[in-house]
Amino acid sequence: MKKLPIAVLVSGSGSNLQAIIDACESGKISGEIKVVISNNPDAFALTRCKKHKLKSAVYNHKDFPSKDAFEKEIIKVIEENGAGLVCLAGFMRVLSDNFVKHFSGKLLNIHPALLPSFPGLHGQKQALDYGVRYSGCTVHFVDATVDGGPIILQSVVPVEPNDTKETLAARILKEEHKIYPQAIQLFAEGRLKLRGRSVLIASKK
Ligand code: GRF
Repeated sequence: MKKLPIAVLVSGSGSNLQAIIDACESGKISGEIKVVISNNPDAFALTRCKKHKLKSAVYNHKDFPSKDAFEKEIIKVIEENGAGLVCLAGFMRVLSDNFVKHFSGKLLNIHPALLPSFPGLHGQKQALDYGVRYSGCTVHFVDATVDGGPIILQSVVPVEPNDTKETLAARILKEEHKIYPQAIQLFAEGRLKLRGRSVLIASKK
């Protein structure tokens, strides 16, 4: 099977990036990371790229006159590297409709809550403050709404009585590292079919 060329967009620690790197290296994802793009020059994700000899590029949004100019540059780099899938992995910029349309159907995100509950920032804290018994994480296609695109996979974790936002976030993160690579592999196998806003997972050929 031909390897899926992947671009990953990051802003921070990059633990999800690490899970994707590991899954590509072990063959759990039949894919290859072609480029990692960070808007934050200090992101630890960039150190992970060095360690694994992955191509990385920094485009600090603050260095661009407009969001449009920033995104045009990112689109160019993604295309130059031939990516067939773009994964947002802790990328902390909201992308414009134009960007989302450009990569429609091949742009994924992971969110640390059970969408459609608790979209936006600090999903773990929102869940804790609300008092839910269960939370989790969601991998979804990105559309023009914030964290509102068609859901591919979710994983549920319990909220324990003494949880802080840090302990809950750590429990959720472990699941993120499982379902993001799984969703990417389903995409690589061509098994994700959109039916309205639902994603059907075709059985393995
Ligand atoms: C994760 O919790 C992810 O769900 C959210 O941002 C965080 C990124 O963490 N979108 P990391 O940089 O992958 O460690």
